Amino acid sequence: MAVKKAAAPAAKKSAPAKTSVKRAVIDLNKIRDQVPAVKTTAYFNAGTNGPIPLVAQKALANQVAKELEIGRIVPGVYEGNFKRNRANAAIAAELFGCDADEIALSHSTGEGMNTILNGLLWQPGDEVLTTNLEHPCLINPLNLLSHRQGIVTRYADIGNGGGDILAALEPLVSSRTRVIAISHVQWSTGAVMPIKEIAAYCRSLGIVLLVDGAQSAGQVPINLHDLGVDAYAMPGQKWLCGPESTGFLYVRKDRFPDIQPTFIRYAQFDTSGYLIPNATAARFELGEFFAPAIEAQMATLTWLRDEIGMDRAYARIAELGQRCHAGISKIKDVTVHTPKHRMAGLVNFSTPLMKPQDIAAKLFERGITIRYVDVRPCPVTARVATGWWNSEAEVDQLVREVGAIIAEARAEKK
Ligand SMILES: Cc1ncc(COP(=O)(O)O)c(C=O)c1O
Repeated sequence: MAVKKAAAPAAKKSAPAKTSVKRAVIDLNKIRDQVPAVKTTAYFNAGTNGPIPLVAQKALANQVAKELEIGRIVPGVYEGNFKRNRANAAIAAELFGCDADEIALSHSTGEGMNTILNGLLWQPGDEVLTTNLEHPCLINPLNLLSHRQGIVTRYADIGNGGGDILAALEPLVSSRTRVIAISHVQWSTGAVMPIKEIAAYCRSLGIVLLVDGAQSAGQVPINLHDLGVDAYAMPGQKWLCGPESTGFLYVRKDRFPDIQPTFIRYAQFDTSGYLIPNATAARFELGEFFAPAIEAQMATLTWLRDEIGMDRAYARIAELGQRCHAGISKIKDVTVHTPKHRMAGLVNFSTPLMKPQDIAAKLFERGITIRYVDVRPCPVTARVATGWWNSEAEVDQLVREVGAIIAEARAEKK
């Protein structure tokens, strides 16, 4: 968050600490004015969609107005679209530690995952290794590939994601393993996976590492070159607070030749009329982009970088996540599925007394927005996503209300 440096300390030693705490609170209020939805309910659901900031709404509206006024396709518009898309890729590259040429724009995480999975040349019997905690956006394309190409998917049981992940994966790797596909942050337990360690292992064996970054982009620090992954799919609409139908797909440059284009459109190729792929990751882009959404996404990323500060946002998300974990862990009859030592801002919990859907619905009646996860074999949980816009008071209120709702359910059962 744009916490300005505290003024020179006054004579007494205790003064600066007081001043900086006050500033942080003032800044939080100022920031919350910029994301109005977080004042309508206590908003804990960036795991589904983050709150839209005013800068996004303005950028989107301006672009729509411009198109209305000057027309959508007049000379210069195509060139402008191209430049805008590449500028958007450049901001993402800066935030996520890679080259702009390695970023393709996408419309969702799922699109990025499909682009990689369908772009590899498979032989029947080739294997993909994944885990018991993954989202259908990975599992469904794998099922389709099994059906169409005869690939085999192996599932490592990593429990809630809090143990030794590599030790769970390794015994399932064979000479046929082509890909390890895994989330960076697990949607159903909030566990943060040791991606760098897995990437090093994959590299040593020539296995492609494909990462589902739906819950990590904007929630935890990401440096793609340092992580050493081959491909990483991210959405714009979740923790990055952009509009729907935006996202990024990272492909490491030396992996370009391994990923074939499966959905061909002209902008993926050079203009010579031959099938020479675009030199950048734009070769993996699957369609046209809605310019107002791209404007909104760029405005949001720039604002996150310059006004919120990514490091401050990551730190605050994690701090509030720990506070929430500690609070919910104390509630009777509740199991917290999130490993405390390996988490950021997701806290997944369940109780035998109520369905997670009902917990979410009752919390909403009390002015608090959370979400639930109900896709087996993932644990069925209620899920809190602490955002940099939340206050400590909101987290404490959430914990109190969860406790009260569960106490009511207990009383009803008696
Ligand atoms: C881990 C994970 N992967 C993928 C998705 C789907 O993301 P998108 O809608 O951007 O395709 C989600 C959404 O909840 C998710 O949590």
